[in-house]
Amino acid sequence: MERTLVLIKPDGVRRNLIGEIIRRYEMKGLRVIAIKSLYPSEELVMEHYKEHEGKDFYERLINFLTSGMVIAIVLEGKNAIKCARIINGATKYQDALPGTIRGDFAFDETENLVHASDSLESAEREMKIWFSEIY
Ligand code: TYD
Ligand code: MG
Repeated sequence: MERTLVLIKPDGVRRNLIGEIIRRYEMKGLRVIAIKSLYPSEELVMEHYKEHEGKDFYERLINFLTSGMVIAIVLEGKNAIKCARIINGATKYQDALPGTIRGDFAFDETENLVHASDSLESAEREMKIWFSEIY
């Protein structure tokens, strides 16, 4: 069993896709073991995305993530890290295949609906950031 940190970004909440997105992880067999809604601070989002600091899209990304409500979720299951990223689809909406969340719903480089940890180390780090009360 493995755990991963997933975010439904502000566009997913604004577009009423919370249920649709969570359904896709659950259908695959991933279990929601922690979930909350929050308006993340700039500080929290900068820590989450610190690997991208200095890149040309960084400021746009931070502004977007702090533009509204975010749903933070810990998913548990076999190969949860890989599975959640496959369900999300490619980062760029134009590369994301139909059947994935981004392939079916995303149409913007920055506003791409979801986040999922990309490694065991990222998952541990990100679960601590978003669920400091648990991890
Ligand atoms: P990244 O970690 O590369 O993608 P992923 O979310 O698939 O792990 O990038 C983080 C987010 O930054 C990405 O979801 C959307 C945004 N982003 C841009 O706005 N422009 C870009 O060119 C890239 C690579 C990412
Ligand atoms: Mg990433």
